[in-house]
Amino acid sequence: MTLALEKTVSLERAGEIFVATVDNPPVNALSHSVRAGLADAIDEFERSDEARALVIVCAGRTFIAGADIREFNKPLQEPRLGTLIDRLDRCEKPVIAAMHGTALGGGLEIALACSYRIALEGARFGLPEVKLGLLPGSGGIVRLPRLIGVENALTMISEGGQIGTQEALQKGLVDEIVANDLGASAVAFGRFVVASGGLVRRTSDLSVPDFDAGLLETRRAALAKKHKGLKAPQIAVDLMAMVAGTPFAEAAEKEYAACKALIASPQSQALRHLFSAERAALKIKGVPQGTAPREVHKVAIVGPGTMGRGIAICFLDIGVPVVLVGRGRESLDKAAATIRKIYGGKVKRGTMSEAEVETRMALLEPALDYDGLGDADLAIEAVTEDLEIKKQVLAGLEAALPERAVIASNTSFLDIEVLASCLARPKNFAGMHFFNPANVMKLLENVRAGATAPDVLATVTATGKRIGKVPVLVGRSEGFVANRMLSKRSREAQFLLEDGATPQQVDRVLVEFGFPIGPFALADLAGMDVMAATRAARLASMTPREQACDIVDKLAAAGRLGQKSGAGYYRYDENRKPLPDPVVDDMLASHRAERGLPRRDIGDEEILERCLYAMVNEAARILDEGAAERAGDIDVIWTNGFGWPAYLGGPMFWADQIGLPDIRKALVKYSGLVGETYFKPAALIDRLVQTGGGFLD
Ligand code: COA
Repeated sequence: MTLALEKTVSLERAGEIFVATVDNPPVNALSHSVRAGLADAIDEFERSDEARALVIVCAGRTFIAGADIREFNKPLQEPRLGTLIDRLDRCEKPVIAAMHGTALGGGLEIALACSYRIALEGARFGLPEVKLGLLPGSGGIVRLPRLIGVENALTMISEGGQIGTQEALQKGLVDEIVANDLGASAVAFGRFVVASGGLVRRTSDLSVPDFDAGLLETRRAALAKKHKGLKAPQIAVDLMAMVAGTPFAEAAEKEYAACKALIASPQSQALRHLFSAERAALKIKGVPQGTAPREVHKVAIVGPGTMGRGIAICFLDIGVPVVLVGRGRESLDKAAATIRKIYGGKVKRGTMSEAEVETRMALLEPALDYDGLGDADLAIEAVTEDLEIKKQVLAGLEAALPERAVIASNTSFLDIEVLASCLARPKNFAGMHFFNPANVMKLLENVRAGATAPDVLATVTATGKRIGKVPVLVGRSEGFVANRMLSKRSREAQFLLEDGATPQQVDRVLVEFGFPIGPFALADLAGMDVMAATRAARLASMTPREQACDIVDKLAAAGRLGQKSGAGYYRYDENRKPLPDPVVDDMLASHRAERGLPRRDIGDEEILERCLYAMVNEAARILDEGAAERAGDIDVIWTNGFGWPAYLGGPMFWADQIGLPDIRKALVKYSGLVGETYFKPAALIDRLVQTGGGFLD
C-alpha cells in the first residue's frame, strides 16, 4: 500500500521494509514539502510495529541534489533540514539511503544521518555548498569526518567537488554499490539488515579519527591561494578544527550557527545570483521550451590559427570528429602539432593517457578544401578578422555543407548582420564567439542575427553546454558584450596613465578588487604588437583623445612587446616577475608633455570607479539596446569571461549593491573631469534612478 504524505513524498509498505520515495522534479531538491513529507514518513515508520527498516529513495534522474535554492530568500518553514536530520539520527530502527544520480548537499547530509548508504553504480556524491558561498550546516561538517576522515572530508567540504561510487566505497562513504534496480536492491538490503539483527548505526556515535596536526593550516593557506577572496572555504577549515575537538551535539550547534550566518552573507547572495543567472541564460527569448537542437555529429572548423585550434580541441575532447580546413599544408601541420603538444602537456601532468591522445588525434582531419564537408552538421569559421575574407569563407561553406547544417562565425567584432547577408540561408547562421585560449576559457558568446532560426539558437546553446562552456546569447553590437565593456575599461586604464597613474597602481587596484590580473599585466601577456594591431584596426572609430592616446604604439615601437620581449608596461626578471620600470615612467612623462597634459596624483578610488563604472555604464546601454537579454547574462559573461570575481556577483549585481543613484552621481562627476563623451550616464541608469529600480529587479 502506498501513502501519499505530501505531494512530493510517498510511503510504500513492503512488509517489514518501508520505502519513502521523494519525487520533486527536476532534482528532488529539499523543498519544504519534501522535508515535511520525509518527517511524516519517519513518524509513520517509527509508529508502525510492522516496520523494521526504512529505505529513502528518489524518483527521476537523481537522489536529492540539495536544499532548495529558491527557498533561501524566503522565511524558513519548519521542519528545517537540521530538525529532520536530527529526527533521522534518533531513529531506533535502521534507515537506508538508496542513492542514484547526484547525492549533493542536504541530500548527502540526509544520507550521512542514515544507518546505511547504498548507491547505484555511476552515482556521484558531493557537498557543493561552498560554491554558493555556503557550507553544509545540517550535520555535514560534523558527520562527514567521522565517516571518511578529516582530510577527505575537508577536501569535499572546502572544494565542493564530487566523488564517484568507487571512491565513495573505498573512503567509507557508502556501504554497497549495486549495478541495477536500486529500489529492489535497497529493499533486499533492508531485509538483510533486519535479518542480521537490525543494527542501528549512528554516525554521530563515531569519534573523529586522528589526523595530522599540520593539515589544517596547510589547507588554509592553499585554499586562500586557490580561492582568493572567498570566505566559506576558510570557515570550513575553522569548523573542521572545531569539530575535531568538540563533542558532537555542541559541534552540531556551532556548525549550524556558522552556516546560517553564511546564508545572509553578500558573497553567498552573489554566488546564488550567478547560479540562477547561468541557468536563466539558457532560456532564450523566441526559442520555445523544448525546441530540439539540431544534431551535431561532425564539425568543420575553418582557419587553423590559434582560435581554430582551440575550438577544434573543444570538439575532439568530447569525441566529435573535426575537419580542420586551412589554406596550406604547413599551417595545418602546425595546428595538428600544436594540438598534440597541448595534449602532451596533459599526459605529462597525468590528466590524459597516451592512448586518449591518439584517440582524439584520430578524430582530427586536416583538409585543404571543403570537399569533405558534405556530412558536417556544424561549421565554425575562425579565419582572420577581415570582413571580405569571412564573407568568402561563409559563402564557400554554405555551398559545401548540407542544407540542414549550422554555420557559425567566431568573429569578435564584425557586424553579424553583414556576415549573415552573404548567405542564401541566413536562418542557419549565428555567431559563436570563443575566447582565447578557446579550449580553456569557459565563456561562449553566441550571437543572434535577425534571421537566425530558433532551432539554430538551441543548437549553438546545446553545443556550448556539450563542450563544457557557459553559453550566453547576445545580440548585434560592436564587440558584442564582453569586449565592448572591456574596451571601456581599457580606455579608462589608458587615460588614467595619461592623467598620472602608473601601470602598477592601476593593476594593483583592480587585483585588490578581485580580478586575477590587472589590465597592464594582461596586455604584457597578450603582446604589445597584438594590442597595437587591434588599436590600428579600430582607430577610425575612436574619439580624438583615444586616437592621440598612443601609449601602446609607443611601447610597441620601442620593442617593448610585453613578456615575450622581457619588457612592456613592466620589465620582467628571469622568473617572469613583473617589476615597475622607470623607463615606462619616463615614457609616460614625455607622452604627457607632448600632449600638454598635466600630471596629477590619482587616488585608488578614482581608478576603481573610472575603470568599473565606465563598464557598468556601457552595460546599461547594451541592455537598453537589447544586445544582452538580461542583466544576469552580463554577470555570467563577466564572471566567466574576464575574471570578474564571482563572489561579487558580476558588474550588474555589484552595481545594484552599490546603488545606482551613487553610481550615477559618480558618472556625472567623471563627465566633468574626463568628458561627457566618456561618462554621460546611460539612459537606462537615468530611468532606473528615477524609478528607484536596479538592473536586476
Ligand atoms: N534547488 C532548486 N533548484 C535547483 C537546485 C537546487 N538545489 N539544483 C538545481 N536546480 C534546478 C536548476 O535551477 C534547473 O532549473 P531550471 O530547469 O528551471 O533552470 C534544474 O534544477 C536543472 O538543473 P541543472 O543544473 O540545469 O541540471 P544539471 O543536470 O546540469 O545539474 C545538478 C544537476 C543537481 C548537478 C546541478 O543542478 C547542481 O549542482 N545543483 C546545485 C546543487 C547544490 O548546490 N546543492 C546544495 C544547495 S545548498
